Amino acid sequence: MDDPRSRQVRFNAGSRDQWAGFEEHRTQVSALLGAGQSGAISRLCVLGAGNTNDLDLPALLEAQREVHLVDLDPRALEGGAFRQGQGHEPRLLLHGGLDVTAMIDTFARWSPLDRVAPGDLEALVDWPSRRVPLALPCPFDVVASTCLLSQIVGNAFESLGDQHPQLDETVAAIRLGHLRLLARLARPGGRVVLISDVVNSDRVPELLKVPDSALAGYLNDLSEKGGTIRGMNPTKVLNLLRRDPVLGSKIAGIEVPAPWRWKLHRRIYLVWASIWTIA
Ligand SMILES: C[S@@+](CC[C@H](N)C(=O)[O-])C[C@H]1O[C@@H](n2cnc3c(N)ncnc32)[C@H](O)[C@@H]1O
Repeated sequence: MDDPRSRQVRFNAGSRDQWAGFEEHRTQVSALLGAGQSGAISRLCVLGAGNTNDLDLPALLEAQREVHLVDLDPRALEGGAFRQGQGHEPRLLLHGGLDVTAMIDTFARWSPLDRVAPGDLEALVDWPSRRVPLALPCPFDVVASTCLLSQIVGNAFESLGDQHPQLDETVAAIRLGHLRLLARLARPGGRVVLISDVVNSDRVPELLKVPDSALAGYLNDLSEKGGTIRGMNPTKVLNLLRRDPVLGSKIAGIEVPAPWRWKLHRRIYLVWASIWTIA
């Protein structure tokens, strides 16, 4: 078992050269973040930008006044910016080494035999939105989280093991902390774009055969049956966005674009997005 930082660095090194394979996913993600729209009036912040293989940086910089990229792995961000010819672009600001959970050192100490203390569960919910904004020039006009939540939750699984009796409550606390952070980083009237990989073809091999036009219905059924990866269920996320006392009062509207598929290495992931307007 490696610590969460090394684990993420290892994953990023493994997917660094996947630029071509990310093309379709990059087009979807970048369009949701404003690529192709003119304006240059707004500031975008992307959490979990990693190698930036899912971001068309020139197109985003064309559409946005500033683009801020946040990731635990500073070298992935720097490498991504250089590979896209944006290493010296002053409107591209890299926030490498920043942990969006504010709890990664606690994750690293957990083991399958440990009890997650009540104080840790509270901190998983509270610290992201209390501490992470202190390290960023927020509020932003648009805040995005790009396939990051599954990685954060995966780091907790890795430390606690998938049989831990408190796994469900720990994952629920991590998810709520992340959603509240996103809402906290966006300005009133701004937008949050939450993009999550919710299941993969190892778990549901039929994903390879579902026609594009049937993907939304397929995902609805899967969410209702609880078939998505732990912590990623879109129905539960939408319920939280509407019913959590902090989120419910901050979110004025939610839009759900059509889901899409993303191929990474030998797996296909089903990707779900929601766009929230902040009150
Ligand atoms: C699935 S990758 C996203 C794909 C990435 N945008 C790309 O194109 O390579 C998730 C990213 O989240 C980052 N990450 C994971 N845990 C994090 C944390 N606690 N704080 C900040 N970033 C984290 C990883 O380093 C990784 O770059």
